Amino acid sequence: MSLKVENLKVETPKFKILKDVFWEVERGEIVSLVGESGSGKSISALSVLKLLPENFKISGKVEVDGVEPLNLNKKELSSFRWEKVSMVFQDPSSSLNPLLTIGEQIIEPMLYHRTVKSKEEGRERALELLKLCQVPKAEERLDSYPHHLSGGLKQRCAIAMALACNPSYLLADEPTTALDVTVQKKILELLKKLSKTKNLGTLLITHDMGIVQEISDKTYVLYGGYTVESGKTEEVLANPRHPYTKGLIECSPKLNGGVKRKLKTMAGNVPEPSEEIEGCPFHPRCPKAREICRKEMPPVVEEREHKFRCFFPLLKE
Ligand SMILES: Nc1ncnc2c1ncn2[C@@H]1O[C@H](COP(=O)(O)OP(=O)(O)OP(=O)(O)O)[C@@H](O)[C@H]1O
Ligand SMILES: [Mg+2]
Repeated sequence: MSLKVENLKVETPKFKILKDVFWEVERGEIVSLVGESGSGKSISALSVLKLLPENFKISGKVEVDGVEPLNLNKKELSSFRWEKVSMVFQDPSSSLNPLLTIGEQIIEPMLYHRTVKSKEEGRERALELLKLCQVPKAEERLDSYPHHLSGGLKQRCAIAMALACNPSYLLADEPTTALDVTVQKKILELLKKLSKTKNLGTLLITHDMGIVQEISDKTYVLYGGYTVESGKTEEVLANPRHPYTKGLIECSPKLNGGVKRKLKTMAGNVPEPSEEIEGCPFHPRCPKAREICRKEMPPVVEEREHKFRCFFPLLKE
């Protein structure tokens, strides 16, 4: 039982955004999807739910417990989005409707998808979910509007709403980026708890390698529309084989030995999808690039569960 993306490609009429992305989340685990801004993290998650603009062409394979969402019709997709895979967006304001109370927003999908029989039953379930998501004074909050709540509380309510129809998988797109550090920690603890108690498979999209280390079982690193490295988080962080992953680790305060060591920055920027780069998209920034890297895209190398895409991988320490 897993949510699996293989050889995922996304094209606009003008350029290719995703070229070959793969990642997989099993029930009960938390998987991180990392990479700098513009690497294709959100687009790959939105593809699973077919939430991209109409003129974007999605191809490749997406499979969720044997179902292929890319082949579903509108009606099937609507239940798939709530009952199988749901999403929490980076900014809770984009998940929550300012005109409805928190209770109304959680109960509505339950009634629509008939996971409850009446409004009263929905209210009870919504209350349970708010409590599960550690929303204080949950009963009162059911009747609050989003603007009554702090950012952290809004995000908890958005998570509760995503759980309304008891999905198997949750796509959490930078759910803590807009929050301060202490609130961030609590939300991450909540996601950890949900993955265990509800056997939820969670894809956590983040920039922050500290979060990756703290919370995830597996990690996938994206660059320029490709998955460039993946494996168990411990292994990827201890033994990065792709120079890009190593660069991300060296730029992270938590993983780079704290404040005592000077933090590195990575030269250059993530390529825009409209830039056609021949060969490996990382070669213009890569300290190890040679002739072949400028001409060909390296194939995926598999060393048991650890995969990477580099002609000259870093040696194991
Ligand atoms: N609607 C769109 N039209 C054209 N290009 C787009 C659109 N949405 C995203 N892109 C481009 O696709 C690329 C990948 O975008 P995506 O939003 O997946 O990045 P990301 O990894 O989630 O970045 P961030 O960390 O900033 O959220 C970016 O270069 C972006 O400019
Ligand atoms: Mg994004």
